[in-house]
Amino acid sequence: MKHFLKLLDVTTEEIYELLDLAAVMKQYVKEGKEHHFLKGKTLAMIFEKNSTRTRISFETGMYQLGGHALFISAKDSQIGRGEPTQDTARVMSRMLDGIMIRTFEQSEVEDLAKYGSIPVINGLTDFSHPCQVMADLMTIREHKGKLEGLTMCYIGDGNNMANSLIVGGLKVGMHVHVACPEGYHPDPSVMAFAAQYPDHFILTDKPMEAAKDADVVITDCWTSMGQEDEKKAREAAFAGYQVNKELMAVAKPDAMVQHCLPAYREQEITTEVFEEHADEIFDEAENRLHAQKAVLVKLLG
Ligand code: CP
Ligand code: NVA
Repeated sequence: MKHFLKLLDVTTEEIYELLDLAAVMKQYVKEGKEHHFLKGKTLAMIFEKNSTRTRISFETGMYQLGGHALFISAKDSQIGRGEPTQDTARVMSRMLDGIMIRTFEQSEVEDLAKYGSIPVINGLTDFSHPCQVMADLMTIREHKGKLEGLTMCYIGDGNNMANSLIVGGLKVGMHVHVACPEGYHPDPSVMAFAAQYPDHFILTDKPMEAAKDADVVITDCWTSMGQEDEKKAREAAFAGYQVNKELMAVAKPDAMVQHCLPAYREQEITTEVFEEHADEIFDEAENRLHAQKAVLVKLLG
């Protein structure tokens, strides 16, 4: 594994290896044990979109590993003035040990990897959010003791989270049941991947059908970053796609809830369900730190 660009590129063995390493990372933090596996290493964090968790977890993670992270806002750097990705990739490769990037196009992340010579990590694109899904899988495994055989249900927009959850979930042996309205389906490349798992994958427009007997119910915002102009149309399209008490009633009685955050209460999830499952949701947020440290150690170590 040279880069971490999307879960379609990562094998089942690599996902489990990263999850095991993430658990070790978490243990080090809990025990207050020094673990400077990336002493002297530097990571650029390029942001073309907002972030709370991704920035905090990568910056803290690099510090805890004995390295250093540089926050680079696209708009304040030459990236925002149109310097070609090929050149940014080559400049950064001369000075740094790795790049994390949050941007719009998946192709920009792939180009950084192609033209640079250092590992590139996808911190979210319109297409995927692989680091988040590693944290989700880690959290589900902590709470349920396993992943294989469990049913993951995703309700809402067929967006970056849906794309990564489908691929990640199927790769680790979960059943993945997705409910999206017409016109908001997951990416065709993800649907083609899921078609290889006819016994494990369901795509429906009926949330209750997707949530039936689920072990974990997951949702995400209806309007992702960059889609603000579509907000009104999206609110109408997703009106019936809320994670609420009625939906949770058809899931397993001990079903957990995951949300990558930020959450929009009374839209994709009710305050009631969110607060009832807040411990699981904030475990998921914390696990961003541990899961990404595993990715960093694997790629930069
Ligand atoms: N879940 C997530 O990626 O959060 P941020 O947008 O705050 O980084
Ligand atoms: N789908 C959301 C995830 C935010 C972490 C977005 O892309 O804005």
